[in-house]
Amino acid sequence: MTSSTYTARRGQLETYFDRTAVDAWARLTSDAPVSRIRATVRAGRDAMRATLLGWLPEDLTGLRILDAGCGTGALSLEAARRGAEVIAIDVSPTLIGLARDRIGPVAGAGAIEFRVGDMLDPGLGRFDHVVAMDSLIHYAGRDIARALAELGSRTDGSIVFTVAPRTALLTLMHAAGKLFPKSDRAPAIVPITTRGLARRIDREPALADFALARTHRINSGFYLSNAVELTRGRA
Ligand SMILES: C[S@@+](CC[C@H](N)C(=O)[O-])C[C@H]1O[C@@H](n2cnc3c(N)ncnc32)[C@H](O)[C@@H]1O
Repeated sequence: MTSSTYTARRGQLETYFDRTAVDAWARLTSDAPVSRIRATVRAGRDAMRATLLGWLPEDLTGLRILDAGCGTGALSLEAARRGAEVIAIDVSPTLIGLARDRIGPVAGAGAIEFRVGDMLDPGLGRFDHVVAMDSLIHYAGRDIARALAELGSRTDGSIVFTVAPRTALLTLMHAAGKLFPKSDRAPAIVPITTRGLARRIDREPALADFALARTHRINSGFYLSNAVELTRGRA
């Protein structure tokens, strides 16, 4: 069961990624030139994608992977090239359309099935691994933990995802961000400490069998995000 805060935030994110920011997002995730600030974000995101993919088995042949909140699908493509059967889902129909146009058929054993919808839809089935890159960062801590619990109950291997770290500087940047006109603002990112996240994960019975295996922070100019790996098989 998803909470009302989760559903409300998902609605805001759909509007933001499907309309308000769709052109900026399309450009950021392409090879087109971008401002110096956005170039730091692009570099950080490339490093984050490599980190998350590096935590999955090298050979993904035959493994079923959920790319939860896939955006324009760059991570899905790399996983499929390594042999995975990827279910790539996003709440933004426009971004899924863009991903389909950009990516086309995948060469080799892997494949991508693009879907428009909620990453927590139980109809998506079971997975060997779930990846959620920067798609949970806008949700409140308790909704992140609930989402991980739902995904965990359908995952046989690991969940690799990102959260926004809570640092003094980030808090300051958020405060500054509030000076912009409301219409230009992205839905707020909700920072969480690793300890706070671990505590919430511990409280989820569906995650009792998962261990917080590792974290890794990527900080590249205006991009700041923490990678987290949850693996099944707690000691
Ligand atoms: C910051 S973007 C990241 C996209 C992609 N993972 C990447 O790293 O390029 C976050 C994405 O998550 C999607 N999203 C957020 N909440 C979602 C939900 N509950 N179900 C499906 N997609 C969601 C948004 O529409 C958006 O495309």
